[in-house]
Parts: sequence; C-alpha cells; structure tokens
Amino acid sequence: MSDVIEPLFSDVTEEAIALLIDRFYAKVRQEPVLGPVFEAAILPEEWPEHLATMRRFWSSVMLASGRYSGNPMAVHRAVPNLERPMFARWLALFEATAGELVAPDLAVQFTEKAQRIAFSLQMALFHRLARPAALAGHGASCG
Ligand code: HEM
Repeated sequence: MSDVIEPLFSDVTEEAIALLIDRFYAKVRQEPVLGPVFEAAILPEEWPEHLATMRRFWSSVMLASGRYSGNPMAVHRAVPNLERPMFARWLALFEATAGELVAPDLAVQFTEKAQRIAFSLQMALFHRLARPAALAGHGASCG
C-alpha cells in the first residue's frame, strides 16, 4: 500500500499560495453549482490569467505583498447568475483545499480571510440597506 501523504506547508509562501489556488480552482471547475458559473464567465484560454490574478490577490491578502490591484466588488457584480447560497459552497471548498495543503493554523488564517471577504462581497452584492423613508414607514424605532 502506498498512501502518499503530502507534507503540509508550515509557512505562507508564494509557492503555497500558487498550489492552493491551482488546486482550489481545479475543484471549483468540477463543482456542480459553482463550475458552470465560472465556465460561463471565464473562457478556457482566460484561465491562466485568472489563476495568475488570484495568486496575486491571495499574495496581497496573506503576505501584504501589494501584488494585486483590482476591484473584486465590481468584478463580481458583473458575474452572471452569481447567487448568495453559492458563497457557502465556495467557502467549504476553499477550507477543504487549504486543509489539504497547509498546516492547520495556516488553514484557519486562510479560511478566516476568505470568510471576511466573502461576507463583504455578499454585503455589497445582495444587501439592501433600508432607506430612511422605508424605516419611517415602519413607524417604531428599531434601535
Ligand atoms: C459564490 C462565490 C464566488 C463566485 C461564483 C465567484 C466567481 C468569480 C468569477 C466568475 C470571477 C472572474 C470574473 C471575470 O474575470 O470576468 C471572479 C473573480 C474574482 N474573485 Fe470570485 N467568486 C466567488 C467568491 C469569491 C470570494 C469569496 C473571493 C475572495 C475571498 C473572490 C475573489 C475574487 C477575485 C479577487 C477575483 C478577480 C478580480 C479581478 O479580476 O481583479 N471570489 N470570481
């Protein structure tokens, strides 16, 4: 029997990020709900550039490298058929992939960052603040 156990990364490095990103998006593309959304938005020949962007993004997030500049909110607003419940799937897959590649404490760091960003994206994409007029319509103070 030859169960190969990969050594887990014990530091956040560009190499660890590159492997995590490549493996995560390979899974995303196979995922029944997420896969079609990504395939519709990213042409096959655009995937290398998307992966390169995502590596720079996570390098900026985890290593404060400043390698990413962009506007994820605007980009996601333009993704067709992006629905709120998809975020839980995305996060579950991301957490599982991080757990396969990096030490548990680092996997927690990656996952917590992802959760915060996912929350911000959802707020920007789906949350509608009640307008003062609507609040007035309800009459009672909502504290
Ligand atoms: C339901 C979950 C999500 C879906 C379906 C989704 C889908 C996509 C798609 C299709 C693109 C490429 C758009 C394009 O190039 O036209 C994209 C870009 C991107 N996504 Fe997501 N995304 C999700 C969640 C997230 C989360 C949670 C993060 C961060 C933790 C994230 C970070 C990014 C970034 C940084 C880009 C690149 C933006 C740029 O081009 O500068 N996404 N996403």
